[in-house]
Amino acid sequence: MTEHILTKYHPAFTNQSRYLMLMGGAGSGKSFFAAQKILYRMKEETGHRFVVVRKVARTIRNSVYQQLKDVIYFHGWQDEFKFSESRLEIECLKNGNTLITTGVDDPEKLKSLAQPTGMWVEEATELSARDFRQLDLRLRGETETYLQIICTFNPISKKNFVYQQFYAREPINTFKLITVHSDNTKVGAAFGEMLAEMKELDPEYYKIYALAEWGENSNAIIYDYKIISRIPENVTETLYGLDFGYNNPCAMVRVAYYEKDIYLEEAFYKRRLTTPAMIDLMDRLEISKTDNIYADSASPEKIKEIQQAGYHVKGAEKSVFSGIGKVKEYRIHVVQNSVNVLNELDNYTWKTDAEGNLLDDPVKDNDHACDAIRYAIYSHLGKRKPTIYGHSG
Ligand SMILES: Nc1ncnc2c1ncn2[C@@H]1O[C@H](COP(=O)(O)OP(=O)(O)O)[C@@H](O)[C@H]1O
Ligand SMILES: [Mg+2]
Repeated sequence: MTEHILTKYHPAFTNQSRYLMLMGGAGSGKSFFAAQKILYRMKEETGHRFVVVRKVARTIRNSVYQQLKDVIYFHGWQDEFKFSESRLEIECLKNGNTLITTGVDDPEKLKSLAQPTGMWVEEATELSARDFRQLDLRLRGETETYLQIICTFNPISKKNFVYQQFYAREPINTFKLITVHSDNTKVGAAFGEMLAEMKELDPEYYKIYALAEWGENSNAIIYDYKIISRIPENVTETLYGLDFGYNNPCAMVRVAYYEKDIYLEEAFYKRRLTTPAMIDLMDRLEISKTDNIYADSASPEKIKEIQQAGYHVKGAEKSVFSGIGKVKEYRIHVVQNSVNVLNELDNYTWKTDAEGNLLDDPVKDNDHACDAIRYAIYSHLGKRKPTIYGHSG
């Protein structure tokens, strides 16, 4: 068996601590190993009821459950296990050991867990401290061998409970292993190259997913940028993003792009602008009447008024989460005197819920220029692919 286990994981394969913390970058073989260890124990030990957990139940089928199946087929063990595709469970035929899966968001199923004897928590940082405590308390079944919780995760943030509980202090009964993609001899060089490219594009991402080092600020929507003196001459195209406001600022940002580079410059950022006053300002700033302007589609009447003044303005594609993902695919450059744009970029953060978990929505405070930028980029470039951004592992 051990010849099929990546060398770096050998100590974790035999380790019997209550907590087996497998922290790593993307593609380092964490999930594959966790599945190997659990399935091996199902085959070789008796009296087991394993539970495999993720935060969200509906993600299980295509992630951990699929991974367990992949590992079974990889080892040619398919005749020794029975799959229950509808319940997402697996049974070892020769000894009756079972493995069930559940989401933390399925309290009924959690309550019904009968004395588990082992767990695997995939993407453990998705859980809250409370979620984890509930699971931990349940792991008290009788066993001839040992009770172990395997946690697999990327070190996304020091604010996460995993850091607080297992890394900010010296925890008891814990074995920790840190792995990076190069420890996984089964992935090709292209994967490492993809990660290497992130070093410049998104240093925080690189730190977490390539180096497997703890991220600092979980809430920041990091738009990493360089400051430049002016937009270069040779850009492919210039666009504008426009976010309306009255008591809030009305923000217009010039967005030029060339391949993977985006250049941003504040056109204006002003409170208490009526639509005629805004048109007047656009005229004075000599905003092009042929370049595309993408404006907040929630105000069609304002868009119409600006169109009637001769501008090529249209309603923007507003999907926030996908839009932000799109912007992050580019290298961003900001012209130095765009003070409001710079200020917003530095303070742009995700909302969190009461427990401090990240939501898919930015804090709506100070995001007018950020919205304008996203409108232009996502509406105009949303379907193009400069992308090298593969998330998570
Ligand atoms: N021991 C192994 N034998 C064969 N392939 C492996 C092994 N470990 C990992 N892999 C391959 O490497 C890929 C990435 O591993 P994975 O466990 O998904 O990484 P992580 O969970 O750390 O992101 C897997 O899809 C699998 O194909
Ligand atoms: Mg994984």
